Amino acid sequence: MTLDFLALSNKYDTPLYVYDFDYIADRYHALKEAFSGQKSLINYAVKANSNLSVISHLAKMGAGADCVSIGEVKRAIIAGVDKYKIIFSGVGKKDEEIHEALKQDILLINLESEAEMKRVESVAASLGKEARISIRVNPNIDPKTHPYISTGLHDNKFGVEIDVAKRMYIYAKKSANLNPVGIHFHIGSQLTELEPIAEACGIVADLARTLKALEIDIRFFDVGGGLGVVYDNETTISVKEYADMIKEKTKGLDVTLLCEPGRYMVANSGYFLTKVLYEKRNDTKRFVVVDGAMNDLLRPSLYEAYHKIEALGNENEKTPTDVVGPVCESGDFLGKGVLLPQLNHNDLLIVHSAGAYGFSMSSNYNTRNRAAEVAVENGKDRLIRARETFEDLIALEKEFLV
Ligand code: LLP
Repeated sequence: MTLDFLALSNKYDTPLYVYDFDYIADRYHALKEAFSGQKSLINYAVKANSNLSVISHLAKMGAGADCVSIGEVKRAIIAGVDKYKIIFSGVGKKDEEIHEALKQDILLINLESEAEMKRVESVAASLGKEARISIRVNPNIDPKTHPYISTGLHDNKFGVEIDVAKRMYIYAKKSANLNPVGIHFHIGSQLTELEPIAEACGIVADLARTLKALEIDIRFFDVGGGLGVVYDNETTISVKEYADMIKEKTKGLDVTLLCEPGRYMVANSGYFLTKVLYEKRNDTKRFVVVDGAMNDLLRPSLYEAYHKIEALGNENEKTPTDVVGPVCESGDFLGKGVLLPQLNHNDLLIVHSAGAYGFSMSSNYNTRNRAAEVAVENGKDRLIRARETFEDLIALEKEFLV
């Protein structure tokens, strides 16, 4: 679908996030279809874009949710995700979070250490419950992605080694308050090669077979998220090959396949709209200063991530420029060396692939109100998050002013 960015920017002002909900639906159906012939559940990774309307859009199609805080679990529930489709992962869950997750009776609590298992056991005991758990296995595989978003190496804080996992399953099976029913791995994000995932999947499937032989009834096999997307000219993994590989590696294991895509589902549904404030040149460089900044879209500053930026409908001669925001940091840029035509005050720039880890990583740094968010579905646009106001920003401080 072609979106009328100019009309949207006039209607809702900038900086603005716009999401194409039809694109999200297509992505969901493509992935679900790839798993056909096998019991499967797509647990959307809420952290990628936690807007309630985005989660609800996916929930209506049947998606579950992968959450990393009790806040995300609550978002998923409010957005209408079935509790029995919610997984709670993360290396540092607090007792209150575990307590709430058990009370809500979600599908699985995903454990990342032995110490955490003991906490979950004791909280479950205090509630007189049996906690359904899975264990995140760290298969020590290099996913060949940016080091900040690689998670399946022993250098990373995530998951437990195979031997430890086995010990934990044996312990959990004997515990009156733990019910080990799932196994999980996630080796990293923005993965563009199938091989490392296949290797990890094979290792974890073997462990699941060993566990079944020990009469530990693994019913959920969770392959994590990480499917990469096109930001520039990357070659991505075909979802059909991905699903076929997983079906193949888990052959004979009677399990429901779970996967936790975030970026795959929403990255290229999203556009960040920002307006030009000024052009600025010095003897070596050209800068275009815009009204969006690193507090709105952190990925370029944090990972030197590339996001395509274009000036709408302006075909004049292009020269390289840095697109920078108003935040007081040299690291505040949305793009470097971007080829753009001469621009005027209020010209619109479109930053592509901004649907994942865009708004969800935004902040109020420099006392900037966070952007509004808009959904476009079936040719109709609607606000799904109001633009923050200055009053919102100071609400929790004002009463303490002496
Ligand atoms: N499951 C687990 C256990 C995860 O840790 C993650 C992402 C996902 C699923 C979803 O991964 P995805 O399908 O979106 O690749 N802020 C970074 C990405 C951090 C990813 C963290 N974990 C970025 O902007 O690239």
